[in-house]
Amino acid sequence: MNLANRLKAIKPSPTLALNAKAKALAAQGVDVVSLAAGEPDFDTPEHIKQAAVEALRQGFTKYTPTAGILELREAICGKLERDNRLTYAPDQVVVSVGAKQAIYNTFQALLNEGDEVLILAPYWVSYPEMVQLAGGKPVFVQTREEDGFAPDPDAIRRALSPRTKAIVLNSPSNPSGAVFSRAALEGIAQAVREHECLIISDDIYERLLYQGEFLNLGNVAPDLVPRLVVINGMSKAYSMTGWRMGYAAGPKWLIAGMQMIQDQSTSNAASFVQKAALAALKGPQDIFVPMVEEYRGRRDMVVDALNSMEGVRCRRPEGAFYVLPNVSGLLGRMYKGAPLTGSMQISEILLNDFRVAAMPGAPFGVEGYIRMSFATSREQLRKGLDRFREFVGSTR
Ligand SMILES: Cc1ncc(COP(=O)(O)O)c(C=O)c1O
Repeated sequence: MNLANRLKAIKPSPTLALNAKAKALAAQGVDVVSLAAGEPDFDTPEHIKQAAVEALRQGFTKYTPTAGILELREAICGKLERDNRLTYAPDQVVVSVGAKQAIYNTFQALLNEGDEVLILAPYWVSYPEMVQLAGGKPVFVQTREEDGFAPDPDAIRRALSPRTKAIVLNSPSNPSGAVFSRAALEGIAQAVREHECLIISDDIYERLLYQGEFLNLGNVAPDLVPRLVVINGMSKAYSMTGWRMGYAAGPKWLIAGMQMIQDQSTSNAASFVQKAALAALKGPQDIFVPMVEEYRGRRDMVVDALNSMEGVRCRRPEGAFYVLPNVSGLLGRMYKGAPLTGSMQISEILLNDFRVAAMPGAPFGVEGYIRMSFATSREQLRKGLDRFREFVGSTR
């Protein structure tokens, strides 16, 4: 028996694979420092847990409408209005099992064989694979460190074709941490305005902002809102990665299509998790302040340490919880008698010889870089950086 053809072009998630390897080593008693996970190290706030417990106690344990309970969809509309100045009605919202499912279903509902989706590189590893699973073709638009990883509108214009069905925007970005400025978003809006495509705005890191303001394309180009799909979720903002709770808001026709896919696949996100999400959205929003301050302190500590290492250069990200140090200065140097050739090899050496899990840049569409998460304690970060420095020092 063979696997389906659609799986032939798909790669397993390298982030999940590296995390699993790091966890397996830790389970064997190896002292691994994991800087690989895109997962807050803070616990889910107590009032959110309580809401789930309460829902369970009250027997709220049955199927709900596929798109999510009305109360939650109304709260999501309230959040989009309050935080993003975007107006949506509950029938323009579908609640999913994480933002990941919301993005997956967007592509499944939208793409025909060979339809193209523009993805700005570096990108989150799952976008191209999800596009391909839906029969689409990812088309990459490179952004550059010199430009702060901001997109070049002319490069977007050149990449657009009659087959372009959507463009994916992710600000703050995983993995670069770049936050798109008003000017950058205006440039993108201008580039896509003349072209009939959707704009998928993955706002999952919205709350993790250290500089500047968070803007969605819809804020700078209200005329494009009818073509906008906003993706967001609870994982990163409310430390709820394991609860699997996300959503999409967009044009009714698309949301109805996504709901149909969910009807025939997972049905609703877990009932009591929906109640927890409601508590998260309606509860105090100042819980983010100390969390963001802590992340900011870690970011500065990590960036300063990396920039003090010879052959390494690291941009200070404006958002999210990743740094993307440029390690191209190490390529060509010798390590254990052989030249360093790429980020995959560096990542393997780091894990095998220095017990640090850090993602290679290559699967994110950016060779010569590695991605480190600072969503872990300062103690672990110091230890990981010391080991990384030891590695850099051992290259010749
Ligand atoms: C850019 C981006 N979008 C979406 C997701 C998925 O988040 P969720 O946990 O809500 O599925 C992630 C998770 O790492 C991410 O980095």
